[in-house]
Amino acid sequence: MEQKKIIFSGIQPSGELTLGSYIGAIKNWVNLSEEYECYYCIVDMHAITVRQKPAELRKRTLSQIAQYIACGLDPDKNTIFIQSHVPAHAEMAWVLNCYTMFGELSRMTQFKDKASKNAENVNAGLFTYPALMAADILLYQADLVPVGDDQKQHVELTRDIAQRFNSVYGDVFKIPGHYIPKVGARIMSLTEPEAKMSKSDKGSGSCIYLMDKPEDIIRAFKRAVTDSETVVRYNPETKKGISNLMTIYSVATGKSFQDIENEFAGKGYGEFKLAVGESVVELLRPIRERAEDLMKNKDYLTQVYRDGAEKASRTAARTLRKVHKKLGFVER
Ligand code: TYM
Repeated sequence: MEQKKIIFSGIQPSGELTLGSYIGAIKNWVNLSEEYECYYCIVDMHAITVRQKPAELRKRTLSQIAQYIACGLDPDKNTIFIQSHVPAHAEMAWVLNCYTMFGELSRMTQFKDKASKNAENVNAGLFTYPALMAADILLYQADLVPVGDDQKQHVELTRDIAQRFNSVYGDVFKIPGHYIPKVGARIMSLTEPEAKMSKSDKGSGSCIYLMDKPEDIIRAFKRAVTDSETVVRYNPETKKGISNLMTIYSVATGKSFQDIENEFAGKGYGEFKLAVGESVVELLRPIRERAEDLMKNKDYLTQVYRDGAEKASRTAARTLRKVHKKLGFVER
């Protein structure tokens, strides 16, 4: 039997899951999970590069597992686990830190962005974050990493690190590719359409969370920033707000941009924004309801992440052992 190709991806539990991470990442994970052997991680070790409240981090991590499953990731077909439960991630990250250059890390846009937003806590973990992400991916010998546009630079750095390591030690790591969706790779803020929709913008009406109530979703879309024209037309350069809403509507309904332009020809923005809001309510309703149900069953969630960690540990240990041997570490 032919070996299935491998997918690895992860999301930080540093905030609630957003419509951006659903459209940019999770939705595609679900579509790929039949064809590939998939590892989906909750990257709690990445989350602590920014200060977290312990009780909230714990709660969000559990709820993220429930939401992964509610989005359609079947734990029998996908390995769902928590990063800190598989110590090989930290061990491999150290090794890869020694094969990642200061200059490379300094060029990472996410680092520059987060360092400016957390000027009082620019810690070493925030700086070497991409080496841990490379460890996540390379431990599983992933072929493909489905992410949104903002993670492309980190996946490219992972490839460079893997190639550097391989050029010294031979074919140790698979060189992974990224999988970035054609529509929805960068969902923008509803209030500031020049900026990415981000989970840290809580309470500003700019971000939709998967667990938001229908009335809050509708309110946020009604208030979404558009432009001074009145025509629903796709142009991400000059009509950022409307184009973002069209992208969301297209993903939620399966309609093409042309269909959407025809549907709203001669109609006002008010009607369009309401339709987008309603489509998102319907997209998220089954996910929220399922996740709420799953959250009542903590034993089941515990079983899922324990099984996941066990399975992930086996694969990760294999790669780590190989790497240690190549490096010249004495076998345990
Ligand atoms: P994170 O937690 O910021 O985001 C999770 C995933 O959601 C995508 N995403 C978006 N896509 C479209 N529009 C948006 N507004 C939007 N916001 C977020 C992200 O691109 C990402 O795919 N470093 C990673 C987590 C990580 C990881 C990994 C990913 C750690 N190790 C290994 C892949 C493989 C991060 O901070 O994603």
